[in-house]
Amino acid sequence: MASERQPRWKRRAYNIAALREEARRVLPRPVFDFVDGGAGDEHTLRRNVSAFDDVDLYPRPIGGSASRNLSTTLFGRRISMPLIVPPTGLAGLLWPDGEAASARAATKAGSIYSLSHGSVCSLEKLAETGVEPRWFQTYIFKDRGLTREMAARAEAAGYEALIVTVDTQLLGNRERDIRNGFIIPPRMSAREIANMSTKLGWLWRMRRTIPSITFGNYRRTDGEDLTTLAQRMLTLPDPGMQWRDIADLRAVWKGPLLLKGVLHPADAAEAVANGVDGMFVSNHGGRQLDGAASALDALPRVADAVAGRAAVLLDGGIRRGTHIVKALALGADCCTIGRAQFWGLTVAGEAGVTHALDILRRELDLTMGLCGLADIPSIGPDVLARPGKAVRELAAAAAAPPAGNGADDTIEPVPETGGPAGPEPTRYGDWERKGRAIDF
Ligand SMILES: Cc1cc2nc3c(=O)[nH]c(=O)nc-3n(C[C@H](O)[C@H](O)[C@H](O)COP(=O)(O)O)c2cc1C
Repeated sequence: MASERQPRWKRRAYNIAALREEARRVLPRPVFDFVDGGAGDEHTLRRNVSAFDDVDLYPRPIGGSASRNLSTTLFGRRISMPLIVPPTGLAGLLWPDGEAASARAATKAGSIYSLSHGSVCSLEKLAETGVEPRWFQTYIFKDRGLTREMAARAEAAGYEALIVTVDTQLLGNRERDIRNGFIIPPRMSAREIANMSTKLGWLWRMRRTIPSITFGNYRRTDGEDLTTLAQRMLTLPDPGMQWRDIADLRAVWKGPLLLKGVLHPADAAEAVANGVDGMFVSNHGGRQLDGAASALDALPRVADAVAGRAAVLLDGGIRRGTHIVKALALGADCCTIGRAQFWGLTVAGEAGVTHALDILRRELDLTMGLCGLADIPSIGPDVLARPGKAVRELAAAAAAPPAGNGADDTIEPVPETGGPAGPEPTRYGDWERKGRAIDF
C-alpha cells in the first residue's frame, strides 16, 4: 500500500554500502571525503574492511533457533546487540544538532553513544537532553590539568565511561583533506556551490548551523576564531604520554575506563595491568597510521592477551552483520560503527542512524539464524571455517605468546585499488596555514 511505502532514501539505502552512496550524493565532496577518507594511501582503511573476507563462516543450521537473542552485556549494562557508536567528531557538521540526533538513535536502539571530545555540541549540552547511556572520549593532553578537567566534567555530567584515544596524539596524513583544502568551518567558493546541485538539501539544512559551528568542549581564547581553535586543538594532545598517565587517570575516574587505539597485544596486557576496563582494538578507522594492522587482524592476539580481564571492542571496518559475527568469533565482546553511523546521520539525521543500526541488526540476526546461533554467547571460534590469517594468528599466539615490540607482525599485501590522487604541494602549505581539522 502506498501509505506503507518507505521514504525514497530508505528504499535506496538497502545496505551500508548503499547508505554510503546516498551520503556521497548529499554531501559536498570535501565533507564527504573528510568522513570517508583515511591516511596516506588508505591501505589500512581498505584492509579494515577486506580483512573480514579472509575469514569464512561455518554454518550449522540444524539445532539452531527460531528466534535469536542478540542482546549482550557491557560493563553491567544490557544492550540490545553487540554494536555501539564510537566517538566521531563533528557530527554537527553533517546534520543540525548531529550529536544529539545520533545519540537519540543509538540509545533508542538499546545501544550506547560515545561523544567525541571534538563534538560540536558540548558534553554538558548533550547530557541536558537526557539521552542515556553516554560515554565520553578524551585524550592525554600536554596539560594534564586539562585531561583531569575533561574527566571531571564528564563525571559531573553523568557519562558512564571514559574513553582515552591513544592513536591520535599527532594528526594522521589525511591526503583527501589536503587535496580538497578541507578546513573547519568548511568554506566553499561560489563556483563550488554552483556545481553542487545534488548538495543543495544539505546546504539549505545546514545554513544556520555552519556559521555557528564550534568545538563545544573547548573554550576559545580571546578573539580566537574557529579555524585558529581547530589548529590549536591539534597541539594539545601529548605524543609523549606514558602508561603512568593512564594509571593517573585510572585513579581519578571511577567508572569504566577504556583505551581506544590498541593494536598490539603487549599494550593490551599493559592496559589491563594499569586497571583499564576495556579497549577499542582500533587504528582510528584507518585515519591515522597508514600501514597499521587492520583492527580485525589485530583482534585475536589482543583478545588472547586480555584473556577476559577487560572488554574488547572491535572498532573499524564493520559494514555487515556477518562482520559482527566474525569479530565476536575472533574474541571481541562488542563492535562499533563509525562511518556507517555517519552515513545514516548525513542522509536522514536520527532516522538515518536508526536505519544504519537496523540494517546491521537485521543482518546480524539473519547471519546468526543461518549459522544456527541462538544467542551472542554461542558465537565462538567454531563458527569460523577455512582459518584465515586472523585465525592462524590466534592459534600461533596461543602456542607462543608474543613479547617485545611486534617484530613478528606481518601484514598481508593487498592489491592497490587506487587511493586518493596525490596532494597538490602548493595547496598543502596554504591548508596548514588555514588550519587543519583535529580528529577526527
Ligand atoms: C569523521 C570521523 C570522525 C572521527 N572522530 C573521532 C574522534 O573525535 N575521536 C576518536 O577517538 N575517534 C574518532 N573517529 C574514529 C572512530 O571512532 C572509529 O575509530 C572509526 O570510525 C572506526 O572505523 P569505521 O568508520 O570503519 O567504523 C572518527 C572517525 C570518523 C570517520
